[in-house]
Amino acid sequence: MTTNSIKPIQTIYLHDYTIYHYDLVCSTMDIARKLFENDCPHKTVVFANSQSNGKGRLNRSWTSQQGGIYFTVIMRPSLSIEKCFKFNFTASLAIINMLKKLCNINAFVKWPNDVLCNGKKIAGILSDMSAEGTVVHYLNIGIGINHMNILPLTCAIPATSIQLECHQSFPPQTLLSAFLGEFETLNHSIDQETILDTWKQHSCTMNQRVRIETTHSVFEGIAENIDSSGALVIRMDNDQLKHIVYGDCFHSYR
Ligand code: BTN
Repeated sequence: MTTNSIKPIQTIYLHDYTIYHYDLVCSTMDIARKLFENDCPHKTVVFANSQSNGKGRLNRSWTSQQGGIYFTVIMRPSLSIEKCFKFNFTASLAIINMLKKLCNINAFVKWPNDVLCNGKKIAGILSDMSAEGTVVHYLNIGIGINHMNILPLTCAIPATSIQLECHQSFPPQTLLSAFLGEFETLNHSIDQETILDTWKQHSCTMNQRVRIETTHSVFEGIAENIDSSGALVIRMDNDQLKHIVYGDCFHSYR
């Protein structure tokens, strides 16, 4: 199956977004990149019933059989790189608002951008950006939401799903539409500083003792802040502040 040969089963228009709905794709991230190369407009969405090669953060795979929600939003924002980080934050907040309003589920964000419910992962976000200097060509935000099944996520956090949390399932397009509505509202109503504050209010990482594992190092300390680039600021035991851009975050208690 090559990315070029896959065709959508339908095209849907929701909240100013054009959604290409596919049955099976390798990864919505790959299709999104191809669509960008073919000049698709800002606010195009690749939405799939399943993925054969779903991707998670840090080169992990994301199990993607039927029953989950898989999509990538293609943004071509005329904004600088720093300002683009806002969209990653609004994406996780939009998931939280959608889960609350549609499913009556209380969820929180765990840095960098996991969405947790009762300490278990219900959704994950993967961003793919292309930029030259400070000019952003595209920012593709890939979102996987556990809907019907508990998916064996290849990460240290246990998983849960919408169905498990609220004993109900929803038409996938209803979930997508609710997400896009929330995402649109947040992007229009909230500035960079407010988004960071709102994100921190909905985060279960702030003020926690955390252990961050990057590919080469491990850092421990108290999560004090998120800087404007999305990096986690931790106060280490020697009282130094460390800005961490990527890694796995574990909340540790002692
Ligand atoms: C994470 O590791 O938490 C991020 C998971 C992101 C999964 C989504 S599913 C839709 C999009 N396509 C992919 O291949 N990955 C993202």
